[in-house]
Order: sequence, then C-alpha cells, then structure tokens
Amino acid sequence: MIEGVLHCSHAACQREFPILDGIPLIIADLRRYVSDNILAMVGRRDMTELTESLLGDCCGPGSTFDQLRQQLSFYAWDHYADLDPQESMDDPRPGSMLRCLDAGRQLAQPIVSGPMLDVGCSVGRGTFALAEQTTELVLGIDLNFGMLRLAAEVLRTGTVRYPRRRVGVVYECRQFSASFPNTANVDFWACDATALPFPDNRFSLAVSMNVLDCVANPIGLLNSIARVLHRDGKGLLTCPYDWSPAATPLESWLGGHSQRSPSAGASEAVLHTLLAPCSNSPPVAGLELIAEQSHLPWHVRLHDRSTMNYLVHLLVAQPVVSENPSSRWDR
Ligand SMILES: C[S@@+](CC[C@H](N)C(=O)[O-])C[C@H]1O[C@@H](n2cnc3c(N)ncnc32)[C@H](O)[C@@H]1O
Repeated sequence: MIEGVLHCSHAACQREFPILDGIPLIIADLRRYVSDNILAMVGRRDMTELTESLLGDCCGPGSTFDQLRQQLSFYAWDHYADLDPQESMDDPRPGSMLRCLDAGRQLAQPIVSGPMLDVGCSVGRGTFALAEQTTELVLGIDLNFGMLRLAAEVLRTGTVRYPRRRVGVVYECRQFSASFPNTANVDFWACDATALPFPDNRFSLAVSMNVLDCVANPIGLLNSIARVLHRDGKGLLTCPYDWSPAATPLESWLGGHSQRSPSAGASEAVLHTLLAPCSNSPPVAGLELIAEQSHLPWHVRLHDRSTMNYLVHLLVAQPVVSENPSSRWDR
C-alpha cells in the first residue's frame, strides 16, 4: 500500500495514522511528528541535479535542506555504495554497518526463527540484510522520514538514488540498482524506538545499530527492545557512545559524565551494570548481556576529503524472564 490511512476502530481511540509513500506513520504524537518532518514529507524526489544544486546554494550550509541531504549522503553511502558501479572501493570503504551487523549475528548464534526488527534502520540496508537469511517478516523502523523514504524506494523500485556529498553544499546524484532476496517480507514503518507499537514477545531478533546514543531515553530504548523480544530472542546493539545533548539530555547519558562514580564515567561499565542481573532484583534494562566485542571500526564519510572514524561497542543481550513465566522483570 503506497498511500492510505490506518484507523483504530477502538471506540475510545478512533485515531488515524497515515501511510505516506508506503510508510505507515505509527507515532503517538503524530501532529508534532508531521510538523517536524514536513519538509522531508512534501519534498520532491524528482528534481534534476541542476535545480537541486541551485536550491542547495540558496538554502546554504546548516539549512534543513542541507541537513536532509547530508544525512542521506552519510547513510546511503555506508549502506549501499558497495553496489554503486561508479564508487571507488579504496579507503574509506563503505559497509561499516553491514560488517558490524555480520559480526553481531555471528556472536548472537543461535538465533531462533521468527520476525525480526531493525530499530533505527535509517536507509534500510540492515533490514534487507536481515531478510536475506530468513523467510520470516523483517521490519525496519526509524523516525527520520527522509531516510525511511529512501529505504521504501529501494524496496519498491530496486533502485538507490541519493545525493553524495562532494564538498560544502556540492552533491552529485548517484543512482544504481540494488536488488535483494525475500523483499516481500520486508517493510519500513515510522515508529519511535522507545515506544515500539508492537505486542510483547513478538520478535526473535532486534537489531539496533548506533541508536542508543541518538535517543532521548536510552534506558527506555533497552526496555522497549526487551519487551518486544520473544523470551528466546536476542537483542544486538552497537554504540560508539558519542553522547550529545542535542539527542540525549546529559542526565540520561549512560556514562560520559560522573567521573567520580564507580564506573568512572565509562559507558561500557554503565552498560555492564545495567545489563547484569543483581540478586533479588531485575536488571534495569530488562536485558542480560551474553556476549560482546569491545572495539569494532566504523567509518562515516562526511565528504570527499573527510571521514569520521569510530570504534563501536557491540553487545548481544537476551531478555530476562522472571521465575513466573507469565511475567517479565521489566513489567
Ligand atoms: C546513527 S544513525 C544509525 C542508523 C543505522 N542503524 C546504521 O547503523 O547505519 C541513528 C538512527 O536512529 C534513528 N533514531 C533516532 N532516534 C530514534 C527514535 N526515537 N526512534 C526510531 N529511530 C530513531 C535516526 O533517525 C537514525 O536513522
């Protein structure tokens, strides 16, 4: 379905959730979401490179238009540039997300069969990669409409089209084919990762790559993932702990402050505490750490002559189930 409305028939609800460009917007504060994302929603995708460059010069650096193009450039390059016949495969090499996802999947074995969730899927390559190895449903969710639309376009048309940043506000349009197996089982929805609109115990695997330090409530994200995972399911997370007050209020950072504390402000130590069951009390996150890899390289290409290098922490966790199988610790 490309366009439509989902209507909640519950007498006390009666809410409507639009489907736009194939993407259902299942978000609690829909009015705010739509006004925050309206430029990406009504923005055209059919402009020529010439017109886009003219408008880009007019809006200038730091404008919302430029931010949208930069985000597409960063993520579409990392997710899909390996399929671009024009792309040089010299350093920096694209594919950081796929390499870390593969490392995580190896660490998380065995993974039980069932639907899978890519939390903070961005432009969607991780969702397609998950679908390659299962015949079950795979759902990518994110809040960035511009990135979701690119993912949904790849799903629908088998073509990637994105502005690849060269320098300043100069971008070149890249367009190439990208086809993946099992796409009938793939979909992309706009949802909040910290308030996932799914029933409990639904997914066998929930992947969340570099999202923990992008949300306002990181513990809420861990709880949300724990809740929707099947009791034999696994959560796979990576994070560079690149905390910023623009995304997360300092009080909610997991580490990155309180150097005087037992964790000495180290995010890894805080995560170990949050994901460790203590005697007589549930782990705060509702998840228990079962495997990890401390430093995995991750590159973000900013423009032709600039790349940001991260070392991400990879964690595999499973939901903690209380003695009473009908209830989880975190509820
Ligand atoms: C650093 S990017 C990582 C994207 C992708 N997982 C990857 O590894 O390439 C973080 C992503 O999380 C998304 N995001 C941030 N807050 C979110 C939220 N509350 N719910 C859903 N997605 C969110 C952003 O829009 C962005 O796509």
